[in-house]
Amino acid sequence: MNNSKGIIFDLDGVIVDTAKFHYLAWRKLANDLGFDISIEQNEQLKGVSRVHSLKYILGWGNKTVAEDRFEQLMASKNEDYLQRIAHMNEEDLLPGIKKILDYLTENNIPFALGSASKNARPILRGLQIEDKFKAIVDGNDVTKAKPDPEVFLIAAEKLGIPPKECIVFEDSVAGIQAANRADMISIGIGDKNILKEADYNFADLAEIDLEFIKKIVSK
Ligand code: BG6
Ligand code: MG
Repeated sequence: MNNSKGIIFDLDGVIVDTAKFHYLAWRKLANDLGFDISIEQNEQLKGVSRVHSLKYILGWGNKTVAEDRFEQLMASKNEDYLQRIAHMNEEDLLPGIKKILDYLTENNIPFALGSASKNARPILRGLQIEDKFKAIVDGNDVTKAKPDPEVFLIAAEKLGIPPKECIVFEDSVAGIQAANRADMISIGIGDKNILKEADYNFADLAEIDLEFIKKIVSK
């Protein structure tokens, strides 16, 4: 097998279903401020950093807050989110991911994490897959949020694989745009009508068979 490809996985919504807990925590924050956020608005928050998410949300609610209040709101959202995911374990891995990671490991195909989350490492640890990744690039390592390609370009560099030879699995519009801007192959996981800019689309990872992975890494 041609092993010159590298794989980069987003975390939230690809490896683990934390996307719904981000939504619930943001929604509670909005509700406490006196407004609501819809599922459609939440789509725009997927893949987006904590600070940018809060900016969007306050904008939707027509709220302006002082800098220290902004910091407080981010901290309380994160506390709420961490409580919601506190008991996460191996059983919370999304269907299909384990099989793919095992296949990549067995075939020496290197893979990295490319996530906007600052909570990525403890989450991977809880899921007991942290050690499987050759590189982990998360929200603590970047200065520019998705759709900027920075997170994926750093991941490619850490894998030692040129961006063109990298394949990204993403569930967010911002993440697909980031992968495309990085000149990587983008695989959208979720609604293909939303992730229409992706090179390939799957409803979830369980839909992907190993033949597809084999084919795409041998191209
Ligand atoms: C992304 C999520 O992976 O990480 C976003 O899709 C989230 O919803 C972002 O806001 C930042 O995550 P965290 O854990 O640092 O607040
Ligand atoms: Mg995601």
